[in-house]
Amino acid sequence: MKRLWLLLKAILSVTGAILVLAYAVVQHQSKAAVEQLVTEAEQWEGDATKGRYVAVMSGCIACHTDYEGSGLELAGGRAIHTPFGTVYSPNITRDSRTGIGQWTKTDFLIAVKIGMNPNGSHYSPAFPYSAYNRMSTGDLVDLWAWLSNVAPVENLVPDHEVPSVLMSDVSLSLWKSLYFNVTSNWQSESRGEYLVNAAGHCLECHAQRTVLGGIRNKSLDGNSRGPNGQTVPGITAINLAAWSHEDLTFFLEIGMTPDGDFTGGSMTDVVEHSTALLTAEDRASIADYLKSQRNTQ
Ligand code: HEC
Ligand code: HEC
Repeated sequence: MKRLWLLLKAILSVTGAILVLAYAVVQHQSKAAVEQLVTEAEQWEGDATKGRYVAVMSGCIACHTDYEGSGLELAGGRAIHTPFGTVYSPNITRDSRTGIGQWTKTDFLIAVKIGMNPNGSHYSPAFPYSAYNRMSTGDLVDLWAWLSNVAPVENLVPDHEVPSVLMSDVSLSLWKSLYFNVTSNWQSESRGEYLVNAAGHCLECHAQRTVLGGIRNKSLDGNSRGPNGQTVPGITAINLAAWSHEDLTFFLEIGMTPDGDFTGGSMTDVVEHSTALLTAEDRASIADYLKSQRNTQ
């Protein structure tokens, strides 16, 4: 009995030490990343017109608008079902009580690129900041300029329905230490790769996840347990071998596959609120990347 107790105590102290360490490492890395971001942000003047386009290509509007509940654009409240419970997208209009009216540009950049709230706590990965971490600061400053011009909407969104222990800073730090590389200084090699891996966050749905909800191997080879339990097909160059470049650009514009079927589930939103609204050049860049050798792993 005593031995069992000692063993249990040892396991608990090791787990505790790992959590404390993960927390300390993530705090340290985040602080360094914040300092770098603040310096970088000073170089940019925001352009609101470009900013709206950035919001479209990043899917911010679709996720932060409750279309089913006839919610206003960006006023939040859309339910996102995850294996850990339901989260509700926040109101990101600049309403000072129920939205982000009190935020500065830096608060915004830190939230989107580092996944941290202005009070220093961490966001759940249901907010795809691991992809947005790779977005250019200039694009996000433009996005902020546009967001600052959107009329504020008063809309209080429901609280997340996820066990609070999973939303605690310690748990989210552990998650970040395993799956989020905040210090990455990512340079995209092409416009298409940027649109797919950074802004378009295609991996969030098209890659398999671990039991802890992390993206397993950064490959777009499909996900058997996608949003709302739906299977998400693979979209590597191998998966898409039978699709021509034109099939892909047509799909991204209209949502129709080469067989004549219309896409369903969460891809409907991606097409309707994002890829259909991009320029033809940007859709062609996405198709180029998806069909490229780079997208075969
Ligand atoms: C897949 C859905 C999804 C997408 C896409 C998304 N968000 Fe979010 N966002 C969320 C969720 C969920 C949260 C809340 C996370 C939490 O509370 O831990 C959030 C939180 C935020 C917050 C913090 C708000 C607050 O009150 O603390 C901001 C700002 C934000 N998102 C902006 C954006 C921007 C800008 C984009 C596009 C670049 C974007 N989001 C794309 C789901 C999304
Ligand atoms: C919110 C989740 C989600 C995101 C984000 C997402 N997809 Fe999808 N995608 C899906 C689902 C689900 C399907 C399958 C739809 C169906 O069964 O009709 C799909 C289907 C597709 C298909 C058709 C594949 C086939 O074999 O039929 C392509 C191509 C595609 N997505 C490309 C993309 C690209 C490019 C991005 C990033 C810009 C992206 N998707 C982002 C969920 C998503």
